[in-house]
Amino acid sequence: MSSSSGNGPASSVATVPLSLLSPYKVGEFDLSHRIVLAPLTRNRSYNYVPQPHGAVYYSQRATKGGLLIAEATGVSDTAMGFPDTPGIWTKEHVEAWKPIVDAVHQKGGIFFLQIVHVGRVSTYDFQPNGQAPISSTDKGVTPGLEGLELSPPRRLRKDEVPGIVNDFRLAARNAIEAGFDGVEIHGANGFLIEQFLKDQVNDRTDEYGGSLENRCRFALEIVEAVANEIGSHRVGIRLSPYSDFMEAIDSDPDALGLYMANALNKFNILYLHMIEPRVVGSRVFQGPEDEIPHRLLPMRKAFENTFIAAGGYNRSKGNRAIGDDYADLIAFGRLFLANPDLPRRYELDAPLNKYNRSTFYISDPVVGYTDYPFLEEA
Ligand SMILES: Cc1cc2nc3c(=O)[nH]c(=O)nc-3n(C[C@H](O)[C@H](O)[C@H](O)COP(=O)(O)O)c2cc1C
Repeated sequence: MSSSSGNGPASSVATVPLSLLSPYKVGEFDLSHRIVLAPLTRNRSYNYVPQPHGAVYYSQRATKGGLLIAEATGVSDTAMGFPDTPGIWTKEHVEAWKPIVDAVHQKGGIFFLQIVHVGRVSTYDFQPNGQAPISSTDKGVTPGLEGLELSPPRRLRKDEVPGIVNDFRLAARNAIEAGFDGVEIHGANGFLIEQFLKDQVNDRTDEYGGSLENRCRFALEIVEAVANEIGSHRVGIRLSPYSDFMEAIDSDPDALGLYMANALNKFNILYLHMIEPRVVGSRVFQGPEDEIPHRLLPMRKAFENTFIAAGGYNRSKGNRAIGDDYADLIAFGRLFLANPDLPRRYELDAPLNKYNRSTFYISDPVVGYTDYPFLEEA
């Protein structure tokens, strides 16, 4: 939003109504449209190593001037909790990402890597030496939630926090080494950063718990370290204050989101990516199909750089959100997963492929991954 950081609509379109297909300048990146690939875990990176089929999958979804955010990728060997999700902490990971990034760049795409630590959303089996997963707390997620049997976590000691912050810093450096244009810090969906942010999980009594300022400290230390390492113009963050995923709930998500939006301005990072409150506690947002909740508006207004909204968007809702200046960019998850040419389909207002939930997380290198048809084949 702020002109000083160089973000904002390209001047050539200033007089026409803005839509998903309007160009947009995000920092140094010239986007030709505002349809962003949301980060989507696909479980096809065997033994945490990205695979050649990843190049096919991502380049299918790349467009000239289109922003893609790669799936959540672990920052260290304690960061993992799901089978065959990628990592970015070894030389092997970096080398394996390179051809995938190249394939996206060859099509003119802009490619960010989402970096994650899952914290307590893990089990002994995923941890080095079978140790307990780490978290802000030693409270575990309720056994059986979402069909998962997670292992009880171990509360990080205060003196261990800088080591985790450093893991994010090194992961960001590795992402740039692999050729990514930037990183998105995963501060959403119940993973480690949210385990610190949210008051129904974080029960610490040190300076990383208690007040809003204290609960946000860990996230902001990571933002600062990553921005110092690779430059703030290459850093985004994703937040989901309203989500209850993995029992990460906050009693005042409006205040949490707004605090973070304001606090992030200090670091002048490229973007803030927020997930809509479709589900809050046990309540599901059930507005009319094309209604936008507008609950993120205070955060959108408070944050001075690019604002990305995600969660439940379709073409008409996306156009409305852009036209209303509610968001600069819209990230699409399931629809982009099932429609590799989503920007073209939106341009033509063409029908969409339906997504198949049963193949979201299987390990097949083709099925449910690279075999969704393009428009001309549909
Ligand atoms: C298969 C699948 C994998 C996902 N993986 C991630 C992920 O790695 N990181 C993340 O922040 N969100 C992840 N999400 C959430 C999506 O990015 C997005 O927020 C969600 O699907 C809602 O957007 P949509 O209504 O456009 O699908 C995932 C969602 C799906 C369906």
